Amino acid sequence: MALWGGRFQQGPAEEMLRLGESLSTDLRMWREDILGSKAHARMLGEVGLITLEEAERLCEGLDRVGLELEAGERGEAGGFVPGIELEDIHMAVETRLHELIGEVAGKLHTARSRNDQVATDVRLWLRGQVDALDVELAGLISTLLDRVEADGRQLVAGCTHLQRGQPIWLGHQLLAHAWALARDRERLQDARRRINRCPLGAAAMAGTPHPIDRRRTAELLGFEAPLDNAMDAVSARDHLVEAVSACAILAGHLSRMAEELVLWSTPEYRRVRLSEHWSTGSSIMPQKRNPDAAELVRGKTGRVFGALQTLLVLTKALPLAYNRDLQEDRPALFDALDTTRACVRAMAGCWSDLTVLPGPSLEGDPLLATELADYLASRGLPFRQAHHVVGQIVRECEEAGTDLSSLDLGRLKAAHPAFEADALDWLRPEAAVERRTSLGGTAWSEVVRQVGVLRAQRG
Ligand code: ARG
Repeated sequence: MALWGGRFQQGPAEEMLRLGESLSTDLRMWREDILGSKAHARMLGEVGLITLEEAERLCEGLDRVGLELEAGERGEAGGFVPGIELEDIHMAVETRLHELIGEVAGKLHTARSRNDQVATDVRLWLRGQVDALDVELAGLISTLLDRVEADGRQLVAGCTHLQRGQPIWLGHQLLAHAWALARDRERLQDARRRINRCPLGAAAMAGTPHPIDRRRTAELLGFEAPLDNAMDAVSARDHLVEAVSACAILAGHLSRMAEELVLWSTPEYRRVRLSEHWSTGSSIMPQKRNPDAAELVRGKTGRVFGALQTLLVLTKALPLAYNRDLQEDRPALFDALDTTRACVRAMAGCWSDLTVLPGPSLEGDPLLATELADYLASRGLPFRQAHHVVGQIVRECEEAGTDLSSLDLGRLKAAHPAFEADALDWLRPEAAVERRTSLGGTAWSEVVRQVGVLRAQRG
C-alpha cells in the first residue's frame, strides 16, 4: 500500500503505476532527498515538534538509507534498488526508512509534503549542477585563453558573411568566443541566486499549523533564505526555465564555436587539425577524418533548445499550486544539464588537443582594402569618398587579374593625389592589424589586455 493509501481500497492499475512513477527519473536525486529530510528532521527536533532523540534516530536512519542507495547504485549486494511501485524517490526513501527504524519514521512527514520535498530536491540538485557547470565552463574559457597565448598571434582573415573581411589575429576571434562564454557564466550565476531559495516547510501549499522554523531548514541546506509564499514555493518552476535558458544560450554559443571548428578543419580552410581523440574516420573512405565531436555539439544543442521548449510549454497555463504535470519537468531539466555539460567538456577537449596550422600569407590580399580607405580618411578625406576611391582600385586589380601587391605609388596617386609613399606600408598585414589599438580592437596589445581581464574572472 502506498504511503497515501489510507482512503483507497484498491491499488492503482499496473498501467497507472508505469504512467505515474517518477522514480526511474528522480532516483538520481537521492542524495538531495536525504539531505532535505535530514535538515527537516533536525529542525523538527530543534523546535520541539519531535524529541531530539527522535530526530537523531531519523537522521541516522536516513544515513543508512543513503548508504544502501549508494551500494545499490554501484550494484553491490545489500544495496537498495527501489522498484517503481514506490512511485518516487521521496516515497522510496521514507518506505525504506520505515523498514529500518520503525514507526518513528512516520514523524518525518510532519509539516511537509512531497510538493515542497520535490521542489527542494530539484533546487539542491540544480544548484550543484550549476556550480559544476560553472567550473567546467571556466575550464573551457581558460583552455581558449591558453590557445590565444600559444597560437593567437597568427594573421587570419576575419570574415563577415563568411567572406574575407579584414586581417585579424586569430586570438582576437578566439577571444570573441571566450567573452560569450564569460557572459554565460554570469547568466548561470544569476540564475543560481533564484535557485538558491528554500521551499521546504511550505507543505502542500498553505503552510502548516505546526511551529516550524523554515529559516533554520533553509540555513541547514545552505539556501540563501526560505521562499516567502508557500503556494509559490511549491508551484514555481521559473528557476528551471531560467537555468535551462542559460544552458540553451550557452549551447548556442558552443554550437557556433563547433561550426567554426567544422569549417576550419576542412582542407579548404586548413586553419586547424583536430586531434584523433576528438574526430572519427569513415567506414568506407579511408582518408577521412571527420569532426564528429564538433558536429555532435552542434546537434546536441537542438536537444537543449528542445528541453527549454518542453519546460515553457509544461508550465504555461498550469493553475496553482502543484499539478502532476510538473513531474515531467525533470526529464527535460536533467537532459539539458547533462547535455550542456557534455558539450562544454567536448569543446574543451577539442580545443586543448587540436593543432593550429600555419595560415597562408595575407600579403596583397584584397581584404587589406579597408587599410587604403582608412589611410585616405586619416589624410582628411571623408570616409565615404575614400571607400569609393579604393573600391575602384580593387576593381581595377580584379580586372587585371592581380591583387593589391601589384600596387605602387604611381597607381595609388593616379587613383587619388592624397596617397603618399607611406601608404604602401599600410598594406602590410601585420601593420594593418597592429594599428587597430582601439578598445576591443584586434591589435595584440588589446588581445593581451582581454586575456588578462578574462583570466582575472577565473574564480
Ligand atoms: N513524484 C512527484 C513529482 O515528482 C512528487 C510530488 C507528488 N505530489 C503529489 N501531490 N502527487 O513531482
